Amino acid sequence: MKAMDATLSSSAPVLDIDQFTIENILDPYPLHAVIRDHAPVSYVKRYATYVTGRYEEVKAVLNDWETFTSTYGAGLADIRKPDNWRQPGPVVESDPPNHTGIRKVLTNIISPRVIRGWQEDFATYAATQTDRVVEMGEINGAKDIAEDFVMTVFPASLGLQSHPHNMVIVGDFNFNALGPRNALFEESNRKLAGIMDWYEETQGRELIQPGSFSDQVYAAEDAGLVEKGVAKGMVRTMLRGGMDTTISGIGSSLLLMARHPEIWASLRENRARLKMVFEEAIRLEAPIQSYFRTTTRTTELGGIALEPETKIQIFIGAANRDPRKWDDPDRYDINRTMAGHLAFGAGIHVCIGQLIARMEAEAVLGALLDRVERIELTGAPVYRPLNTLRTLEELPLRLVPA
Ligand code: HEM
Repeated sequence: MKAMDATLSSSAPVLDIDQFTIENILDPYPLHAVIRDHAPVSYVKRYATYVTGRYEEVKAVLNDWETFTSTYGAGLADIRKPDNWRQPGPVVESDPPNHTGIRKVLTNIISPRVIRGWQEDFATYAATQTDRVVEMGEINGAKDIAEDFVMTVFPASLGLQSHPHNMVIVGDFNFNALGPRNALFEESNRKLAGIMDWYEETQGRELIQPGSFSDQVYAAEDAGLVEKGVAKGMVRTMLRGGMDTTISGIGSSLLLMARHPEIWASLRENRARLKMVFEEAIRLEAPIQSYFRTTTRTTELGGIALEPETKIQIFIGAANRDPRKWDDPDRYDINRTMAGHLAFGAGIHVCIGQLIARMEAEAVLGALLDRVERIELTGAPVYRPLNTLRTLEELPLRLVPA
C-alpha cells in the first residue's frame, strides 16, 4: 500500500447508509451496488467507519495486514477501547509474528493427508443422510441437509461433541458480534448467556476425543509450540470458523441447484464440474458478507486518503459481485473462471479450512446426485437475519428420487 500523497488522494466521500438494517441484511445486493458505485472507499458516519465493496480494494486490504490490521478486532468494535475491551482471538485477530507460529501449528495438524482421511466419514454420513431425506421427500434443505450434515461430521472430525441447538446459538452470536450492538446482537448475547456453562466446558480438554485434531492442538501447547492458554481459543476458532460458513455454502448450493435444474441434470450425466457448484455458490452468496480491519497508519486506497486508527468494513459479498471484476456478476455460472473469488478471504488470514468445506459440500452433493433426479423448490427460501453471515433458515425442497 502506498503512503498517502495529499496531492493525489481525495478524502473519502460520506455515504449515508445503515448496512445493518434487517432489510439490508436480508437483501444485501442493492446496498452493495450503492457502496461500490459511490466511491472506491466511502465514510459511513453512522458507524464512524470506512467501507469498500470493490473487488480490487477489498483484495488489497486483505493482502496488507501491516496497514490494515486484524488485531484491533475483526468486527466493528475496536476491542482496545474500554467499552469493548476483550482479548483478541488468537488466530483471526492476530498478525505476525504471533499469527505465523499459530497458523503453522494448525496447518501442520490439518495437513491435506489428515483431511483426506476424513473424506470417507463425510461420504458415509452423506449417503445415510441422503437415504433419510429422500425418504422424507419434502424437507427444509437448510436444516435437514446443510445444518444436519455439518453439525454431525464437523465437530466429530475436530474431536468435539456436537450439540446442534447450542451450536446455532454460538454461530449466530459469532456473526452478530462482528456488527454493531443492535437488536440482533442483544438477542444473541442473551441466548449465549443461557448456555455459557456448556460453552466454557465444551472445548475444554476433558471432553475432547483423544488423538483428535483438538487433542493435537492441546499437545502443541504442552510442547511449547504456542503460548500457554491459547489452545482452547485455537480449537474454538476452528469450530466457529468452520460450522456456520459451511452450512451457509451448502444451503446456497442446494438452493441454486433447485433454481437450475438444467445444471443438476447435466451433473447427473457428467460430474466433471461438480466442485464448481459450491465454489460458484459461495462467490455469488458469500457466507461471510463482511469483515473489518483497522488502519494502522495514514494511507491511501483506490485514490482515497484514509486516516489512521479507523475501522474499514470490507464487503466480501460485494467484491464477489463487482462488475469491474466479473462478467455478468449476478448470474450463477459453474463454467465461469471463478478463481480469485474472495469468499475464503485472501492474504495471511486466508481460510485455513477451505479444503474441508469443499470436501463436505462435495460429499453432500455427490450423495444427492446418486439418488435424486430433481431438486424442486416448494416455497420461498427464508434467510436468517445475522449482522455478517448470509445463511438460509428455511429452504423448502422436494427431492424427486431417481
Ligand atoms: C464455506 C465455508 C467457509 C468460508 C466461506 C470461510 C471463510 C473464511 C474467511 C473469509 C476467512 C478470512 C478471515 C479474515 O481474513 O479475517 C476465514 C478464515 C478462517 N477460517 Fe474459514 N471459511 C469456511 C470454512 C472453514 C472451515 C471448514 C474451517 C475449519 C476447518 C475454517 C477455519 C478458518 C480459520 C481458523 C480461519 C482463520 C485463519 C487465519 O486467521 O489465519 N473455515 N474463513
